[in-house]
Amino acid sequence: MLNIKVKTENLKLWYGKKLALDGVSLGIYENKITALIGPSGCGKSTYLRCLNRMNDLIDGIRIEGKVIINGRDIYAPEVDEVSVRKKVGMVFQQPNPFPKSIYDNVAYAPLMHDMVKKGKACDLLVEKALKDAGLWDEVKDILNKSGTNLSGGQQQRLCIARAIAVEPEVILMDEPTSALDPISTQVIENLMTRLKEKYTIIIVTHNMQQASRISDTAAFFHLGKLIEHNKTEKIFLEPEEEMTEQYITGKFG
Ligand SMILES: Nc1ncnc2c1ncn2[C@@H]1O[C@H](COP(=O)(O)OP(=O)(O)OP(=O)(O)O)[C@@H](O)[C@H]1O
Ligand SMILES: [Mg+2]
Repeated sequence: MLNIKVKTENLKLWYGKKLALDGVSLGIYENKITALIGPSGCGKSTYLRCLNRMNDLIDGIRIEGKVIINGRDIYAPEVDEVSVRKKVGMVFQQPNPFPKSIYDNVAYAPLMHDMVKKGKACDLLVEKALKDAGLWDEVKDILNKSGTNLSGGQQQRLCIARAIAVEPEVILMDEPTSALDPISTQVIENLMTRLKEKYTIIIVTHNMQQASRISDTAAFFHLGKLIEHNKTEKIFLEPEEEMTEQYITGKFG
């Protein structure tokens, strides 16, 4: 049985006067990878940021509609955004480790959230997150070295380890491999396929091969609207909407 983990209902977002999301209603399945696709400026990143209230940090935005995670509206007045961001982690296009040691990159948030105390328990948590992110073997002897000295692909896996260290339920990834070489990209794609057993993953990608390789469902956006959401094979082989077909065959975008 497929369970809907994240749901938006008629979600609208304005930057000042500009309407960037125009009534997006979408249900995202638990333990699946959902790809958000569509031309530049169609609202993919904006949509993603609504799901962990990252847009709250931007001046002059207005949001209408609902974002429901685990059956609760994350914009309800009693919900605090720090708890939302703990539950819904994010990985960005440019790997952005803190200018701290590899160990501290992973340990920082769990310590801040009082999930562990410094010492053995924290060491174990760091080891587990780095193992889950497929980075442990490469860094286990250099945990005190700076995270910013790793290769781009390693930095991105460090950022994934950092995201999963707080045991989120949902991971948002905004073009996580677009700054990486093909080998690192493949490592991260394989990693995502493993991670979906534990997490619900939503990825924005401009790479159609990537979307078709790794996602279970794909959602096509255009000018702030959700045009079509379907099983990935369906989107790529027999889309229902003309516009989806035009986009995936490269007629615009
Ligand atoms: N902070 C902001 N202030 C004002 N307008 C913004 C802001 N961020 C995004 N926009 C506008 O909102 C629309 C959607 O932008 P968004 O970044 O979500 O698109 P996107 O689909 O992620 O594009 P890309 O594929 O290029 O990353 C665009 O027209 C963009 O110019
Ligand atoms: Mg974007």
